[in-house]
Amino acid sequence: MQNKRINIAVDGYSSCGKSTIAKGLAKELGYTYIDSGAMYRAVALFAIREGWITDNNMEESAITEHLSQIRITFKPDLFGVQETFLNGENVEKEIRTLEVANGASRVSTLAAVRTEMVRQQQEMGLNKGVVMDGRDIGTVVFPDAEMKLFLTCSPDIRAKRRYDEMVSKGESPQYEDVLANVKERDLRDTTRDASPLRQADDAIVLDNSEIGIDEQLQWALNMFNKITGNNEQN
Ligand code: DC
Repeated sequence: MQNKRINIAVDGYSSCGKSTIAKGLAKELGYTYIDSGAMYRAVALFAIREGWITDNNMEESAITEHLSQIRITFKPDLFGVQETFLNGENVEKEIRTLEVANGASRVSTLAAVRTEMVRQQQEMGLNKGVVMDGRDIGTVVFPDAEMKLFLTCSPDIRAKRRYDEMVSKGESPQYEDVLANVKERDLRDTTRDASPLRQADDAIVLDNSEIGIDEQLQWALNMFNKITGNNEQN
């Protein structure tokens, strides 16, 4: 039986495994995965390159005035893994650094940036069949999403996971820096004026501190089947 196509929102704190569960769901269901955080990271990279974000300064008006010059697209690589493009340039690797993560956390506080990103994200979800992860997907981008997940996980475990990921990519981070970055971003994400991170009233909460990836995905697929009324799988 063919499931009815829906949109799935996956929100939660940084480094909580949102992309792992969102990508897993998209793969299993044949849906399109969209990493909304990558869009804020691409805006940050653009601004950093222009010199509009430095350690202690952010030129808000320069960023908001040039938003129309920032075009973000996604394209799968040879293995079907979605990569991020900034004005046609593949920036997938560059947007994953701590510097860009910090910049993204800062540009994402700007209302004009959020308005433009949300507009683009809503366009991507018009035909349904999208799994999007982020901070405001269930609350702002797709408030009508049929399935909403909200992921939580302890800061220590999140920092450890991100640390391992960076080491596996050949980087040499300090664990304390990664943990401080996780906590700093939590604070900024939850206290900003524009669309702070919060759980949608109708979101299902999953604390994955102690749950493995496969178990988590199976749990989400069961949830999907319940929501779409398809109980034939599994
Ligand atoms: O998920 P991520 O770490 O790639 O996100 C980068 C930053 O962008 C993060 O600090 C929060 C912000 N963000 C947001 O404000 N809204 C989203 N929908 C996604 C990310």
